[in-house]
Amino acid sequence: MLSRRTLITSGVSVAALASVGYALWPRLDGYEEEMLRQRALLTENPPLLEFVRLATLAASGHNTQPWKFKVDAGRVGILPDMTRRTEVVDPDDHHLYVSLGCAAENLIIAAKAQGRSVEMGIDSGQETRIEMALSPGVPGDAELYTAIPLRQSTRSLYDGMPVSAEEIAILQAAARQEGVSVLIFTERADLDAVADFVIAGNSMQMDDPAFVAELRDWLRFTPRQAIETGDGLFSASSGNPVVPAWIAEPLFGQIFRKDSENAKYRAQIQSSSGVAVFVGDKADPEHWIKVGRSFQRFALQATALGIRNAHINQPIEVPDIRPEFAGWLGMPERRPDLVVRFGRAPALPMSPRRPVSEVVL
Ligand SMILES: Cc1cc2nc3c(=O)[nH]c(=O)nc-3n(C[C@H](O)[C@H](O)[C@H](O)COP(=O)(O)O)c2cc1C
Repeated sequence: MLSRRTLITSGVSVAALASVGYALWPRLDGYEEEMLRQRALLTENPPLLEFVRLATLAASGHNTQPWKFKVDAGRVGILPDMTRRTEVVDPDDHHLYVSLGCAAENLIIAAKAQGRSVEMGIDSGQETRIEMALSPGVPGDAELYTAIPLRQSTRSLYDGMPVSAEEIAILQAAARQEGVSVLIFTERADLDAVADFVIAGNSMQMDDPAFVAELRDWLRFTPRQAIETGDGLFSASSGNPVVPAWIAEPLFGQIFRKDSENAKYRAQIQSSSGVAVFVGDKADPEHWIKVGRSFQRFALQATALGIRNAHINQPIEVPDIRPEFAGWLGMPERRPDLVVRFGRAPALPMSPRRPVSEVVL
């Protein structure tokens, strides 16, 4: 039997250990508040920089936010930030320009909802950039605008229930963009075939040390790391547990394994209601921007309908797999641009953004 003294001692040590553990274990305290602050909707008659803030809530590959904004008397330029390239997964800057298109679409939707009319052009000079002119107009539809702060990439299991044909038609209408085709698959056999392509691509990526090292550079293990950098892939936003960096970092290689990642992708795809594939008419930065605009509208419309989405881009990222995937789509001469699963699920914690001051020239 334990003496009273032993009990007190062990009680003290358990309490002490618990408090040390509590102090070292990262918590989400304050993280959600910071996300809400970053994602506030606009107040009346906002300055142009506020439209830029909403533009930065758009999706971007690895959450690199590879954009710079030039704001000047009713004009906004969106330029690529080449210091934020991901040269292994995206050697030709495809994802980078798709991300610029996503940001442009958010900006256009926010500006129109606030009663601005927007003219957008693409300047395909030495470095492709987006130019916008904003002028007074009539307030546009607010449905996609109010979805901007709520949209997220939800990398979790979905509920497996079908999305109705009517909702799919609404998603297709939202994603409509000249120069871009959106193919939607909901048959189980097609989803299984997509899963096979994802797993083949994922296996090749995970066997490539350069791919893993680049991805590792953009991972953020704790809420503090995520808020301090304001970018990258925060564990909780990817549906992973939040553990202290001093545990997660050395264990990364053991936790992040090909077999378990492949099994996770298959289960996630099987739990999804469908898969959308975005295909541009041409493979150039101008069309990649269009694909980004189409995807962003798709994702915002999905959000407005309570439908989540997550990218599963391995089939279009791995050059050895892409042509076979294009053939499976029945478009062997095209370069498919994005693969996205969709369905219903609870939200995950939002991913962070950098302050506007860091992205404005
Ligand atoms: C061009 C592009 C490619 C992406 N590829 C992937 C991907 O392969 N896997 C993934 O999980 N997320 C992918 N994403 C989603 C981003 O990681 C996500 O947008 C970013 O982390 C910001 O998070 P949020 O979408 O929740 O705001 C991609 C996004 C874009 C725009």
